[in-house]
Amino acid sequence: MKVTVVGAGAVGATCADNIARKELCTELVLLDIKEGLAEGKAQDMMQTAALLGFDTKIVGSTNDYSKTAGSDVVVITSGIPRKPGMTREELIGTNAGIVKGVCENILKYSPNAIIIVISNPMDTMTYLALTSTGLPKNRIIGMGGTLDSSRFKYQLSQHLGCSPADLNAVVVGGHGDTTMIPLIRYATWNSAPVTDFLSAEQQQQIVNDTMVGGATLTKLIGTSAWYAPGAAGAALVESIVRDQKKLFTCCVSLDGEYGQKDICLGVPVTIGKNGWEKIIDFKLNAEEQAAFNKSADAVRNMNDVLKTL
Ligand code: 2OP
Repeated sequence: MKVTVVGAGAVGATCADNIARKELCTELVLLDIKEGLAEGKAQDMMQTAALLGFDTKIVGSTNDYSKTAGSDVVVITSGIPRKPGMTREELIGTNAGIVKGVCENILKYSPNAIIIVISNPMDTMTYLALTSTGLPKNRIIGMGGTLDSSRFKYQLSQHLGCSPADLNAVVVGGHGDTTMIPLIRYATWNSAPVTDFLSAEQQQQIVNDTMVGGATLTKLIGTSAWYAPGAAGAALVESIVRDQKKLFTCCVSLDGEYGQKDICLGVPVTIGKNGWEKIIDFKLNAEEQAAFNKSADAVRNMNDVLKTL
């Protein structure tokens, strides 16, 4: 197995670090346009191998895509991150050009790769990756909902005083502060509905805090978060390379599912060796469906901006 992570910034490097520690592949390539950055971080990570006891070989590359040849999975993290006060959507002009170019270069050397998109605005970048490459839809996966669902579990765990690992909870819709939809009605603590243990006010607070999860961290840190985004990317890689068929919320191409077409949006999907394999139809109630449709409208407006670039 060979995996490439494009972008050796904080998210890309963290994702690579998680992939190496879990030995998800024999060879891992970290690529960046900044001279020496990927080589340096790859070497730094390799110098943890003896301490952590992993065997994955990590190779750094300054924009030399020939080193990525034959990758089974490619994670794209390239692009500028958001600064405090910025929305993910404000990054579109710059990041669209970057993501399109990365996809072209990757496919020259790894025509069969499954592509995971992390770059923001993630829903639109996933749509761009799909439409610009013309790849089969199952091979293009946007990471956003996987991260947002993990943040949702964290917020729930804080109110319930429980382990996030004991929670099942999904966020669907767009990966934007106002477009994501934490489905609290479906969230469970092991098998018990979390709504049995939380007041209406607590539930609202959890939903609100989840939605601004990324913005809260950007304000605290001064730039976009990386531990959870990197780990979310690696969790998807794991489900693909080990063919786990785990259920994650991912941004995928919809063709009538959840009432939407010609858009990539976050829905529960199984992830396995073929990329995203099956969309799971959580039955949304009228209010949730209305929120999903509103989210789709906002993402579609963003996708329309691509035509003007
Ligand atoms: C976040 O929400 C990077 O979009 C990512 O932190």
